[in-house]
Amino acid sequence: MTIKMVQTTVKWWQKAVIYQIYPKSFKDTNADGIGDLRGIIEKLDYLQKLGVDAVWLCPINSSPMCDNGYDISDYYTIEPSFGTNEDMYELIEEAKKRNIKIIMDLVVNHCSDQHAWFQKALKDPEGKYGQYFYFRKGIDGKLPNNWRSIFGGSVWEKVEGTDYYYLHIFTKQQPDLNWENPSLREEVYKIINFWLEKGIGGFRLDAITYLKKEPGLPSFEADAKDGMVSAMYGSLNRPGIHAFLQEMKDKTYGRYDAFTVGEVAGAEGEEALPFISLENGFFSSIFDISHVQLDTVGPNYFWCSHRTWDANELREALYEAQMAIQPQGWYANSIETHDAPRSIDYYLPQEGRNYYGASMLAMLYFYLRGTPFIYQGQEIGMRNFPFASIEEYDDCSSKNQYAFSLEQGYSEEEALHFVHLRSRDNTRYPISWDASEKAGFTDGKPWLPIHPNHTSLNVAVQENDPYSLLSFYKKLIAIKKEARYETVWAEGEFVPVLKEYPMLVAYERRTKEQRFTILCNYQNEPCTILMKDKEPDLLLNNYNTLQKDGNKWQLQPYQALLFDGEV
Ligand code: NOJ
Ligand code: CA
Repeated sequence: MTIKMVQTTVKWWQKAVIYQIYPKSFKDTNADGIGDLRGIIEKLDYLQKLGVDAVWLCPINSSPMCDNGYDISDYYTIEPSFGTNEDMYELIEEAKKRNIKIIMDLVVNHCSDQHAWFQKALKDPEGKYGQYFYFRKGIDGKLPNNWRSIFGGSVWEKVEGTDYYYLHIFTKQQPDLNWENPSLREEVYKIINFWLEKGIGGFRLDAITYLKKEPGLPSFEADAKDGMVSAMYGSLNRPGIHAFLQEMKDKTYGRYDAFTVGEVAGAEGEEALPFISLENGFFSSIFDISHVQLDTVGPNYFWCSHRTWDANELREALYEAQMAIQPQGWYANSIETHDAPRSIDYYLPQEGRNYYGASMLAMLYFYLRGTPFIYQGQEIGMRNFPFASIEEYDDCSSKNQYAFSLEQGYSEEEALHFVHLRSRDNTRYPISWDASEKAGFTDGKPWLPIHPNHTSLNVAVQENDPYSLLSFYKKLIAIKKEARYETVWAEGEFVPVLKEYPMLVAYERRTKEQRFTILCNYQNEPCTILMKDKEPDLLLNNYNTLQKDGNKWQLQPYQALLFDGEV
């Protein structure tokens, strides 16, 4: 049975492919070792050739960079190490000439402790700016509550020389903004409208389901040996958050043809629908995160709570997530971000970490219902970074997770192993543009080292190779955007098929007129499937051949196929 899909006019972002840039590691043009906006301008032709419609920039506003830009000290200016406001306006213009929209990262659950609001608040926690944050006095000489910060330790930091503490769900350099205060909300809307008026295409909304805190900020029962409880219990997707999000939309991007994608944790399956209804959701889309924590046990995602998983589990998670939100909802689909390890190392077992595994993964997520995102370097198959010691890491969460593993009784070697698997620096080191000493990223000393594999794994090598992963991504994108297929990707229902074959991720995208099938053999073994009589058109294959024996097809290890038709 075909379900009725919601009929709304198809929006530009339902047909789009979006590329995520981590500006600090994309391209440096002034030899200070830090990527910059002029570097992005330089590489716009590369992005246009790739075929992307929009670029999401991780935060580029002024920041002391304690959490690499997710701690903003001035929302109206560009971080000087990235460039100037004029560079940003030029980037928006130049991108527009190439039909590329610029999406900014909006970080408004918290700001930086160096922001003028917070500096003023510190001087007078009971005054006007104190009300922009959460200042509380300790209780009987103890902390105001027992919440544990997402990055470890208490969420409370003492204000020197006073009885006050302030709340920070993330690092102590990221004080939480008090959304209960209408003046603060108006300030935020001003910021959003400022950038929309500059011509940006939308926003990725950081940590957006943390805006509402449980009234009274109560303690909860501890969930680990440290006596604390994850801050999620009192601050993630709490009742009342919908009103904040509705107001924000109505007063800002709801008035534009903008794309918004929420980093929405704590609202899975049908609970996600108010956020992303195609008719009237708070956002255009949210990231499908159903599969990004398969490697940890328990709700806290401690890196030391490591577990193994297989393709059948991933398949279940993906299918469930896709089914739960259609037909009203729309996902942003990705397999790599600046918060996760490299996809090849995370999603594939050792024996699949090659061209076939990587191209299969690409096909697998690319045609799911939603907008596909590609994270910089994913298109050439960049890998995790072999840092030798914890000191070599920059990422604050890697350092915190390392310390937490030691506290839990793991050895230094084990703790480092968990960091190797999970560190955010695995995706944050510079892009390998070419085989030269600094990989074409910089002429100076890169802020994080160049990967030793850059001599063979880089953009320049793959650009000239029709069988490279980069060329495969270009084909995926071209098919996604071909006019005669557009409707099936934008409006087609998602239907899982061939579930009887283990380790095979197979689905259709269906409209009344069209039916496309995606088959991904997610294992290092062949998989034989029985075909129907009528053979559909093969549109894309990550192998040169497809082995057939009568109506039996033998899919090779990690073979991925896209058909125009039913299988
Ligand atoms: C999510 C961002 O993606 C991550 O990089 C950041 O550390 C936290 N939010 C806090 O802003
Ligand atoms: Ca630079």
